[in-house]
Amino acid sequence: MPIKQIIKLSNNQGMHIKLSNWGATWLSCVLPVHGQNREVLLGCQSFEQYQQQDAYLGATIGRYANRIANASIDIDGKHYMLAANQGVNQLHGGKIGFDKRLWHIQSQSDQQVTFKLISPDGDQGFPGELNVEVNYQLTDDNQVIILFNATTTKTTPVNLTNHAYFNLDGETSKDILNHRLKVNANYYLPVDANGIPHNDLVSVNMHDMDLRRPKLLFEKLLESQERQITGGYDHAYLLDKTKAIAAELISSDNKVIMNVITTKPSLQVYTGNFLQHTPNRHNGEYGNFAGVALEAQFLPDSPHHASWPQPSCFLHPDQIYRYQTTYQFIVS
Ligand code: BGC
Repeated sequence: MPIKQIIKLSNNQGMHIKLSNWGATWLSCVLPVHGQNREVLLGCQSFEQYQQQDAYLGATIGRYANRIANASIDIDGKHYMLAANQGVNQLHGGKIGFDKRLWHIQSQSDQQVTFKLISPDGDQGFPGELNVEVNYQLTDDNQVIILFNATTTKTTPVNLTNHAYFNLDGETSKDILNHRLKVNANYYLPVDANGIPHNDLVSVNMHDMDLRRPKLLFEKLLESQERQITGGYDHAYLLDKTKAIAAELISSDNKVIMNVITTKPSLQVYTGNFLQHTPNRHNGEYGNFAGVALEAQFLPDSPHHASWPQPSCFLHPDQIYRYQTTYQFIVS
């Protein structure tokens, strides 16, 4: 009988992270900051609480991160109905996404672990048996490198990401509204109240969505109509691939910077607009905006938008899905 396990990785800087085979979840991320340990990742106290929350804290998301409109796709003239779990749409892979599975621990050492999952043909409505591996590595220069690999037996959309929420001031501080965020993106995707794209990509100059210079997250947060619709930032940015770094998050005390580097085309910026009532590690609950998720992925609802300027989200049986996202922590 497979059991839920906790794996701890440590580096020579005194940083350590914890992971679990349940949901291939990133549980904890502790950084030494001027002699004090700082937990910068939101998380729960127990597996029971992880199973109760619906914020996808730290989880590996699959088979398809973000939304697929009407929970249906067409592949080679064949129509597939997927498991809907947010009204008529699918969010983060369906009712029983990869975040709710017990993964197999394939390999493990002091600074890396690989989780493996076989998602059967027809899982949540998706065609093809998908073989997935997620490798987490903690380097000695405080980088958490997440490598996603997958192969399939039939053509299927694949969009794997990690759903960690960060609070670089420390997860016991109230919220991330005084963090500054920079995202190297010239375009973003407008969405409706259900998070479904209702338009093509538009310039970040429109509607006050520009994050190309570090911006305080609270600045006019709910003044722009775009962000009123979603209760804060909950938008995909198309990354400027001429820039090495996708995003930079800066703590309010300026002591911690986190760089996000990814081979994925887009970054979902989600300021935790609906986090309230999510159990925290201290017998309490997080409030809204307690953490920010920076999820590297394909643009939402990509299976219905082949013309968008990004690689195809469909994986074919003769291909290997391979994407990497790095969260690099710098203490100053
Ligand atoms: C989505 C949010 C959603 C959250 C679920 C994010 O990736 O963009 O709209 O509420 O996941 O916790």
